[in-house]
Amino acid sequence: MATETDSHYLTRVAELGDRREVVSTCAIHGENDIKLVEKGTRIDSTLLEKLLRHKLLRPIDECVSVEGAVTTSDLAGLLEQCLEANAALAAVKNAFGSSHALGGLAARAALETPLAFKLTLARELNPAHFEHAIETALVAAALARASGMPDDDVVAALEAGYFHDIGELHLDPAVLGLTRSLTEAERRHICSHPVIAHLVLREFPRYRAAVGTAVLQHHERLDGSGYPKGLRGDRISPLGHVLMVSEVAATLLRRGEGDPRAHIRMVLGLNRRKFSAELLAIATRWLGGEIGPDTVGSAEPQDVAALEGAFARISAILGDWKEIHGDRAATGAPSDAFAELVDGRVAALSHALVQTGFDWRVPEQFMSSLGSGPEARYEMAVLARETQWQLREILLEARRSRDGIPCTSPGIRAAVSGWIEKACASMAAAQAVAPAPAAD
Ligand SMILES: [Fe+2]
Ligand SMILES: [Fe+2]
Repeated sequence: MATETDSHYLTRVAELGDRREVVSTCAIHGENDIKLVEKGTRIDSTLLEKLLRHKLLRPIDECVSVEGAVTTSDLAGLLEQCLEANAALAAVKNAFGSSHALGGLAARAALETPLAFKLTLARELNPAHFEHAIETALVAAALARASGMPDDDVVAALEAGYFHDIGELHLDPAVLGLTRSLTEAERRHICSHPVIAHLVLREFPRYRAAVGTAVLQHHERLDGSGYPKGLRGDRISPLGHVLMVSEVAATLLRRGEGDPRAHIRMVLGLNRRKFSAELLAIATRWLGGEIGPDTVGSAEPQDVAALEGAFARISAILGDWKEIHGDRAATGAPSDAFAELVDGRVAALSHALVQTGFDWRVPEQFMSSLGSGPEARYEMAVLARETQWQLREILLEARRSRDGIPCTSPGIRAAVSGWIEKACASMAAAQAVAPAPAAD
C-alpha cells in the first residue's frame, strides 16, 4: 500500500496543509527515486497535483510534520474529559477506580509520529471520527480491565481504539458519506478500512500484533456476518472481541436523538449472538441505563400508527419466512446451504426479538401495549428501527451471497429468492419509520 497512489489520503493531507502548517521533514521521492519535494517545504493543495502524478517511495506520513500534532498527553486528557462530560459513561469510571489509573495507562500507549499525524488529520478534518476513536478507546480499555485482562492488554485496547478506523482516512469521502444502500463495489471499498489500518499498524513494531489483529477484526461478528473475513467466534482474538463491542457501544453513544442509553440497551440486546456474551453483559450494565421520563422528554414524539405499521411489517416478513422454510430441519426435508444461511440469520433475529418481549407471532398482543405510555412507545420505536435495520442487513447479505453458494435444491432456492425480493419491497416502504442505520 505504501507505494500506491493514495489519492484520497494525499488530498486530505493537502487539505490539512491548507489549515495548519504541514512541512516535509525529509525530501519526498516518487518512484524511480525522482525527487518531488525538498526537505522543509510547506505541503498544501498547491503541491497536490504534483504529488498525485507519482507513486511515492515512502508513505507521506513518514515524511511530514504538522503543527500542533496530537500527543499522548492530549489523548490522556481527552479520555478523562470524555469520562467527565458524557453521562452515559459514568459507570465506565468504576472500571478504572480512579482517573489517575486511567491516566497512567494512557501514558503507556504508544503514539508513533506517523500515527499522531493521522489522528491530527482526523481531529482537524473530521472531528466526529476523532471523538469516536477516543470513545472507542475508552470503552475498550474499560472492558479489557473489567474482564480481567492484564495492564499490557488494557494499553493495547487503548491503542486499538485510537487507530481502529484510520483506514477510513484513505477511502473516498464521497463513498463514506453515502446514506443510500451501497453498491457491491462501494461496499467492498468501505469494507477495506480495517485491512488498510492493519497494514499501516504492521509497519510499527512498537504495536503488539494483538493491536493490529483487533483492528483488523473490529467489524467481525460471532455469527460470521461481519467483515472483512466473515470470521466466526472462535477465530476472533480476545482483544478483537473487546474492540467489536466497544466500537458498537461508542457508535451508539453518538446516535443523535434522545438518550443514547435506550439505544444501547436495545441494540446490544438484539445483537446477543453477534458479540461475546460476557462483554455484552458488562457493556449493557454500564451503558444501557433505564428508560425514564427524562429519556423520553428529549426524544421525538412517536407516531403510533407508524409503529403499528412497522411491527406488522416485521411480523409479516418473519411469518413469510417461517412459512417457506418452517420446520425443514425437524422434518428432515432436503434443504440448501443458502437457505440454511438465511435461516440462521432470521432465527437469531426472531429469537432476540422474543427475548426483548416482542413475540412477532402475535403482534396484536404487543401492539395493544403501545398505548401504555410514552416510555413504552419510545422503547418500541427504538426496537422497530433497530429490527428493520437488522432485517435490511440480512436481506443485503442474502442478496450478496446468493450466487456464491452452490444450489442443491432449485425449488427451495427459488422460494428463498422470492422471499428476499418480497421482503426488500416491503422494507423499501418502511423508510419513513427507519431513516437511519444502527451501529456501523
Ligand atoms: Fe469505528
Ligand atoms: Fe470501522
